[in-house]
Amino acid sequence: MRKIYIFDTTLRDGEQSPGVNLNTQEKVEIALQLEKLGVDRIEAGFPAASPGDLAAVNAVARAVKNATIVGLARSREPDIDAVKEALIGAQDPCIHLFLATSPIHRKHKLRMEKEQVLENAERAIRYAKQYFDKIEFSPEDAGRTELEFLCEVTEMAINAGATVVNIPDTVGYMTPQEFGNIFKTLKEKVPGIERIQLSAHCHDDLGMATANALAAILNGADQIEGTINGIGERAGNTALEEVALTLETRAEFFQAKTSLHLSEIARTSRLVSKLTGMVVPGNKAIVGANAFAHESGIHQDGMLKEKSTYEIMSPDTIGLKESKLVLGKHSGRHAFREKLIDLGYEQLTEDQVNAAFGKFKDIADRKKTVTDEDLRALLEEKMIDTPEVFALQQLIVSFDTHTTPTAKVKLKTVKGLVEHKAEGNGSVDAIYQAIDALTGETVELDDYSIKSVTDGTDALGEVHVVLKQGDNSAQGRGVSTDILEASARAYVDALNRLIDKRNAPARNRRDNVTLI
Ligand code: KIV
Ligand code: ZN
Repeated sequence: MRKIYIFDTTLRDGEQSPGVNLNTQEKVEIALQLEKLGVDRIEAGFPAASPGDLAAVNAVARAVKNATIVGLARSREPDIDAVKEALIGAQDPCIHLFLATSPIHRKHKLRMEKEQVLENAERAIRYAKQYFDKIEFSPEDAGRTELEFLCEVTEMAINAGATVVNIPDTVGYMTPQEFGNIFKTLKEKVPGIERIQLSAHCHDDLGMATANALAAILNGADQIEGTINGIGERAGNTALEEVALTLETRAEFFQAKTSLHLSEIARTSRLVSKLTGMVVPGNKAIVGANAFAHESGIHQDGMLKEKSTYEIMSPDTIGLKESKLVLGKHSGRHAFREKLIDLGYEQLTEDQVNAAFGKFKDIADRKKTVTDEDLRALLEEKMIDTPEVFALQQLIVSFDTHTTPTAKVKLKTVKGLVEHKAEGNGSVDAIYQAIDALTGETVELDDYSIKSVTDGTDALGEVHVVLKQGDNSAQGRGVSTDILEASARAYVDALNRLIDKRNAPARNRRDNVTLI
């Protein structure tokens, strides 16, 4: 079977999703999970975008040992120098250079003729070659580039020293047949094509990103680029879990496989969703909550008789095993620890286990059984250590259908305990008004979403908020059996992150650099 390399761009193209803004710690946490998942290459960011991005790429480069770390650069020297600096400490560094090649981009964005595009790209690749053995070159908007010119660009890139040529369908315009044909043509026509790897990078504007990536594989692509949960610019990128499970499930058809440890997929998907705040839709292929749920009686009957009637892959494959050990309020520390190991949290320190056990006991008092999903939500509520300028101590909310809701909030601050009572046009609004009054911060609630972690009226609620303050924004999460408490926790978490960003502007600033 042919090996298909997996190039993960969750931390770069994925982070370009509107509203997503990962800090360095979050990027490192995702990168380490991607390493566990077994991706071959991790695109950690765009170092020229800001000192914060450069530092985050560097932190990833130093933390990850078993994957190639890639930094993105426009075809210009300062960008290349930024990637060089960002990848210091990487075991296996690679630069990803790009320059648009389509007639639309040449005319309106670059204002360059074909020859100038060729010259600029070649100059950039040769400059980068002084510092990097591994160079990926992307003719941006390749999908809408004249095929003959794309062959010329690819040949130039090979001769200048690129080791991978990536074909992006930047605007998600291609159909599988057309996209596959690009790879077939490049393979047939470009001299020296056997010396490099060909890669596919698709966007999902017409819902064809996975189909196009698979068409590329059928026509000779060696590498697929994409993101976890398919997040990314606009409608997103190819969802890597979809490609991996298609190759696994239809191996006889594709005769190709990835080196991914598929049982890490569910965990990786959850982590990315949690840290980006992008909720995975229930019907999302592979990682949606309903992907393995059978609702209709006919299907359930078939499943009971023989799973293969309606199940083409097993939830175990992606690491969705249901544990036999059910925890409740009488469960002790030993059972709790066993459960943590079972769920894959064996690396927690003694202090973290103790803190988690305290949270578990608290929840077990309020809920009959504590499920695996409850535990994951609790354990992952706050793994990133942002300094706690404010901590929620108490919340009293009063609501009836005929009067204005009020909330009394008590916060722990550096100056001690403070409390305030406020009114609002709803209970959440009242809570947020009280918190604003206590913290003195002027913020805008940019996004608020809530989901239940499990079924049932006693389920844990998980709230995600995004707060804006001037040019700064930060997200926060809160988990509780009570959605008002979860709302308050999420808001306080986001405020702490916002303050942390404000206190370290250079580390967190993202300059207004466009991808041109
Ligand atoms: O979609 C795109 O064209 C890109 C390039 C930077 C490869 O993300
Ligand atoms: Zn892209």
